[in-house]
Amino acid sequence: MTTEVDYKPGLEDVPAAKSAISFLDGKKAVLEYRGIAVEVLAKESTFEEVAWLLIKGELPTQKQLADFDHDLRQRRSIHFRLKDLIRCMPAEGHPMDALHAGVAALGMFYPCPHVNDPGKNWDATLRLLASLPTLVAAFHRTRRGEDILDPRSDLDHAGNFYYMLFGKEPTPAVRKVLDACLILHAEHTMNASTFAARVTGSTLANPYQTIASAVGALSGPLHGGANEEALRQFEEIGGPENVKAWLEAKRAADPKFKVMGIGHRVYKVKDARATVLQEIAEHMFAETTRPKNYETALELERLCAGIYGPKGIYPNVDFYSGVVYQAIGIPTDLFTPIFAIARVAGWLAHWTEQLVGNRIFRPEQIYVGRTGVKYVPLEERP
Ligand code: ACO
Repeated sequence: MTTEVDYKPGLEDVPAAKSAISFLDGKKAVLEYRGIAVEVLAKESTFEEVAWLLIKGELPTQKQLADFDHDLRQRRSIHFRLKDLIRCMPAEGHPMDALHAGVAALGMFYPCPHVNDPGKNWDATLRLLASLPTLVAAFHRTRRGEDILDPRSDLDHAGNFYYMLFGKEPTPAVRKVLDACLILHAEHTMNASTFAARVTGSTLANPYQTIASAVGALSGPLHGGANEEALRQFEEIGGPENVKAWLEAKRAADPKFKVMGIGHRVYKVKDARATVLQEIAEHMFAETTRPKNYETALELERLCAGIYGPKGIYPNVDFYSGVVYQAIGIPTDLFTPIFAIARVAGWLAHWTEQLVGNRIFRPEQIYVGRTGVKYVPLEERP
């Protein structure tokens, strides 16, 4: 029988699966996808190649990558009735909610009800990777009263997403920044959304439901939603000169106050991805004036290191990602959907892994309620 001693709130340190997809050493800031350092992949690789690596386990050959890329480009378009569905969504709704509904609906247009056919599973994998950017861009344009743009098969994954959002191609530098961000967010061991995907996948639910579960988990402010909150926080602070007073006031009002974009269950040093994103930001702002939000972030990191550093609380991936996205023109509430566009690669890798020797997740609980309570008929109750 499970005892209080066995109980770990938030399942801290409890292994939920054996996995060969990514490796994280939170004390040394090491993150590897299938054994390859994420910093190297962010500089040298592409999102398409990284998606293959995560899902298949090895870097693709030139032919495998060319075929995979071609197959993804073929699956970017979404059914016209799915576009109608998106047009019916409230413009003021959050894009993560739209994405959640869109992903589940995708499974009705391109069904994969059983998960025992590797060919159909692969097709769903391709479709999910290829169409998340289309869903996000379609909702974004619709809510702005703009026409939904058809995907362009002459552009790569990052470039096509940017095009579908804004109706113009990104510069090569912006395309590379977006691609690097997708790589950095593609996978991160047994985080909340990945666990959600594995739990839903373990019921043999269809892959669209599996990914929709993960999208829901990612939307929360303690997980993917933190990137939006981090940027809003920099805006609220208003400039590096205000950071000290802002932080003191927040901590005085609430001793449990949490700075958004810092802290992590596993990392006890600065997240490797935050370091790469900061390098990207430094590079982008090298020849321009640094944006106020970036200056604010730098000062907040400096002050937080003194206060929270001794507890092992340092910037995570969400601390600098918003500043980078803002600099390339991405609206704040699309930060988390972009996270999902990237992380779907990791979720699909975990779903594929989960199905091998699958066992449904069914953990234990520690019951703390009453037992044997007598039912009182309604007419006898006050
Ligand atoms: N600011 C200030 N203090 C913090 C922060 C923070 N951001 N994060 C943790 N702490 C403190 C807590 O107050 C707590 O202190 P205590 O021991 O004195 O009570 C201690 O550190 C442990 O914090 P928990 O919240 O229990 O740690 P947990 O591992 O459960 O949570 C989490 C990790 C959710 C990421 C947390 O650090 C947090 O809320 N950070 C802010 C939100 C954020 O940036 N989320 C993105 C995470 S990365 C991702 O999902 C992509």
